[in-house]
Amino acid sequence: MKRFFSVEDVENVDVLVEEALQLKQNPLSKNDLGKGKTLGLVFLNSSLRTRMSTQKAAQNLGLNTIVLNANQEAWSWEFEDGAIMNNTTVEHIKDAANVLSQYCDIIGIRCFAGLTNKEEDTSEKVYSLFEKFATVPVISLESATLHPLQSLADCITIKENLPVNKKPKVVLSWAPHIKPLPHAVGNSFTQWMNQSDYDFVITHPEGLELDTQFTQGASIEHYQEKALENADFVYLKNWSSFRDYGKMPIVENDWMLTPEKLLTTNNAKIMHCLPVRRNVEVSDALLDSENALIYQQANNRTYAAQIVLQKILESNE
Ligand code: CP
Repeated sequence: MKRFFSVEDVENVDVLVEEALQLKQNPLSKNDLGKGKTLGLVFLNSSLRTRMSTQKAAQNLGLNTIVLNANQEAWSWEFEDGAIMNNTTVEHIKDAANVLSQYCDIIGIRCFAGLTNKEEDTSEKVYSLFEKFATVPVISLESATLHPLQSLADCITIKENLPVNKKPKVVLSWAPHIKPLPHAVGNSFTQWMNQSDYDFVITHPEGLELDTQFTQGASIEHYQEKALENADFVYLKNWSSFRDYGKMPIVENDWMLTPEKLLTTNNAKIMHCLPVRRNVEVSDALLDSENALIYQQANNRTYAAQIVLQKILESNE
C-alpha cells in the first residue's frame, strides 16, 4: 500500500478486515516494524479519536509520532499556485508538505470540507495539493469527502457483530444536527459498504442526497421507518445538503433514533462514528444500551490505523 485515501487503495476489503482482526488479537506482534521511523499527524481540524488511535497504532508498530495542529500552531497556508503572498497566508502548502516530508516517513493529514466552495471540496483541493507536494506516503485522517480509517473501523466492528446465518442488513440513516456537517463519513461508509456483501440501505430526507459518485449501487429509501425494518445495524450520521451545498434544509419529520424506532428492526446494533450530539442525533437510551457499538467502533480505530500503517511500512521496506 503506497497511500490511503479511499477504499480504492485497498485490494480486498474483506481480507483487510480479517487482517485487522488478527492484528487485534496480538497488537504488539510487529512492534519493531516502524523502529527508527516517524509518523507525522497534521490536523487542520479538531480530533479526539483519530488523533489518539493513530498515535496508539503507531506506538504498537514502534513508530515515533509527531503531531502538528497546523491550524493553531503552524503558519497559515497558501493553496493557490503562483500566489503573490502579500496578504494573510505565510507558507505555501508546497513548502509545508515538502518540509514535513523531511522529518516524517509517513504523513497523515486531516482537512475537512469547508462547505462553502463545492468545487474545491469535491476536488479535494487541500488533500490533493498536500499529497502532490509530499515526498512520502500520505494517509487520510479525514478529507473533504471521505473518512476511510473510520469506515475501516466500522467494517471491522460489523464483522465482529454479524448476525448468525443471515446476510446482515445495514442501514445508514441521516440524523438531525444543530449545524451543517460535511459528507465524509456518510460518503465513505457508503463506499466501503458497497464493497461488502451486505444488504445496504441509505435513508435520508428528500433533498439530503449524498454525492452520487459515492452512492451509486446503494439502495436509497426516504422513509426512515421503512428502511429500518429488519435492520441488523443502524449507522446514524448527519450531513448537510450536497445539492444546495452546505445548507441545512428544513426537515419535517423527527429523524432522531429512539428505542421505539428500533422495534421493527432485528434488535439492531447502533453505530455512530462519534462525537455524537446526544438526544439530538440519537437518544441516550440507545447510546447507553447494550445495542450500542460506539465504543467498539472507537476502539477499532486503533486496529484500522495499525493495519494501514503496517501495510505502508511493509511496502516501503
Ligand atoms: N470519528 C472521528 O473521526 O473522531 P474524531 O473527529 O474525534 O477524530
